[in-house]
Amino acid sequence: MAVTGLLFPCLAIVYLQTCSGRATHSVPNYTAPEPQSITEPYECRSDASLDFCVKDNCKMRWKPPGTHHCSTCGVCRLGFDHHCPWLGNCVTTGRLKAFLALLALTSVTVPLASLPLLPILRTHVIAALAASHADPWATAVWWNRPYSWIFCGGPPGRWVVGTLLGFRVLREQRIPEPSWLSGSLVTQPHARMVILVGAATLLWLFAVAMTIVVAVGVTRSQTTLDSACTRSGNTARTITNRFVCIPYSDTPDSFGSTSAVQWTPATPGDRHEPHNTHRTHPILITERVYDLGWRENWRRVMAQPLFDHGMPCQGVYKWPKMNPTVIRRMKGY
Ligand SMILES: *[C@@H]1O[C@H](CO)[C@@H](O)[C@H](O)[C@H]1NC(C)=O
Ligand SMILES: [Zn+2]
Ligand SMILES: [Zn+2]
Repeated sequence: MAVTGLLFPCLAIVYLQTCSGRATHSVPNYTAPEPQSITEPYECRSDASLDFCVKDNCKMRWKPPGTHHCSTCGVCRLGFDHHCPWLGNCVTTGRLKAFLALLALTSVTVPLASLPLLPILRTHVIAALAASHADPWATAVWWNRPYSWIFCGGPPGRWVVGTLLGFRVLREQRIPEPSWLSGSLVTQPHARMVILVGAATLLWLFAVAMTIVVAVGVTRSQTTLDSACTRSGNTARTITNRFVCIPYSDTPDSFGSTSAVQWTPATPGDRHEPHNTHRTHPILITERVYDLGWRENWRRVMAQPLFDHGMPCQGVYKWPKMNPTVIRRMKGY
């Protein structure tokens, strides 16, 4: 009891945090760099340019890698994972830690809080079943009918419906409840206890399933959005519509030059700019460009603060490190 008394406030605080900042949190507010000034591989569009958002109020906001425009919230989000309808907010990479905490707290708190209800539920169900069997009406419309064995999901459904009928029978025999606080709300057999525990079970199963989905995503450094795109992608298609641009210091002649972009130097003096040739490489559907191994992927998520400030991201943009195996494949060695 003391444990759940402690868990509920924690759950509420983490829940409020993950719900907060819907209009501002993780919204990128960075000035886009000039592509020719970038010297490390970066995610780009097919022509080596950067991506900008023209939807809603984004007004040509630069979309750094991993940014996705959430049409429900009407803003761009850095590290978008998915929009959670239960929170009415987006879950982003920067908030995965808080989201995991919320899921873990739910997975622990819900069964702990439901445990004391189980013996009460048991007595209610036994009372309802006895009343149902003893009642001539319930026997006539349900227990004696062959369809009760198949109608509601087979033999288990026979007992579920029989129990609910029992609660209906008991309603006629119920003592009027003097007040909401008298305790009869819990002690008198009533279908609400079944519904409450049923809802708690569903919530618990959902939280556990979501915990597994998110944990697998963190391990593979794959957002829910990435996995959805990979799944919906035609299996015959081996290429996503995402590209990586690698800056080279060589001249474009050394490549097939089909996808090489040579930047015109801004001033004539810049003619010997070191990385003036950018070549784009399509990302294969099987490649996870930001996967740095499970250890590093988890470290990156756990390094985030549990409670962020909920404000747009600004300052100096730090390009995320890319999977060296993918870069090597693109460079052709
Ligand atoms: C974005 O950043 C600029 C300064 O770089 C600032 O003036 C502006 O208010 C910021 N916008 C938002 C929505 O925070
Ligand atoms: Zn946008
Ligand atoms: Zn959203």
